[in-house]
Amino acid sequence: MMSTPTGHGAGTATATKPSPKVRHFLRIADFSADEFAYLFERTRIIKDRFKRYELYHPLRDRTLAMVFEKNSTRTRVSFEAGMTQLGGAAIFLTSETSQISRGEPVEDLARVISGMVDVVMIRTFKQAVVERFAAYSRVPVINGLTDEHHPCQVLADVFTYIEQRGPIAGKTVCWVGDANNMLNSWLEAARVLGFTVHASTPPGYPIDPAILLAAGDHVRVFSDPMDAARGAHIVTTDVWTSMGFEAETEARKAAFADWCVDEEMMALADPGALFMHCLPAHRGEEVTAGVIDGPQSVVWEEAWNRMHAQKALLEYLVIGEVRS
Ligand code: CP
Ligand code: NVA
Repeated sequence: MMSTPTGHGAGTATATKPSPKVRHFLRIADFSADEFAYLFERTRIIKDRFKRYELYHPLRDRTLAMVFEKNSTRTRVSFEAGMTQLGGAAIFLTSETSQISRGEPVEDLARVISGMVDVVMIRTFKQAVVERFAAYSRVPVINGLTDEHHPCQVLADVFTYIEQRGPIAGKTVCWVGDANNMLNSWLEAARVLGFTVHASTPPGYPIDPAILLAAGDHVRVFSDPMDAARGAHIVTTDVWTSMGFEAETEARKAAFADWCVDEEMMALADPGALFMHCLPAHRGEEVTAGVIDGPQSVVWEEAWNRMHAQKALLEYLVIGEVRS
């Protein structure tokens, strides 16, 4: 086990800038294909230990601070349970119950929190906020969802595909619906891990041009979601209205009506295709009950794998590469 040069004990009492050695996981593009391969293998090992009720406490005496500015079920439970299982502890903070809602600057928050804990997870609105926090943090920062990215979910989703079907390189992922944080993270993963995304979003909801450009020939855009689904190995979607966009709900219901994953769409995909959804889901909107509760759906495995994949991520960021 390699020890890390970072952590709450590193640096001097007066240091306000982080060590350049501190690694963060703010978006999928922050990690290389080799790092993901390492994390998927660690996820497998750590999950196997959990299934065998084997104690594994590499993060004893380590603390995770979790800052939530948006609601969560899976992210909170998976990080908190995961940290406990690794022998550490997690602190749950919200905007309302902390000084965030009273305007404490994110840079001050980063300096204070990162001097007391070993790793931080943040769920907030703008990606720029997690980036500013990371710039002033002396410990690793994990993006637990922003308007622009949801890297922990796609980490777990790719692991779920590999666990069920084998390597993802060369495969096709069909995205149906909003050009949101989940699609952006899938597009970054496509480039890093060598698969292709067939994306279909409704008129008026285009993919972020910078993300599209960066994906290069790992993305194909379709106006008809049925065409995007043809031959796909994963068909995935998400809510029509993400957190923070609630004022647009009614307009989105009209615009997204034809972007629903149903049985007819799944029939066009590869016969072994998996259906994925990060959850929470709205049956009858972006997916039919028959699909999400049907035999091709792996939505519960995705949710449970959040915890296993994030345990591997926490281990990697806090103590480095482990060979045990
Ligand atoms: N998928 C996901 O991130 O779920 P929560 O919003 O419940 O954390
Ligand atoms: N795109 C959704 C994902 C929720 C986990 C949102 O941002 O609300």
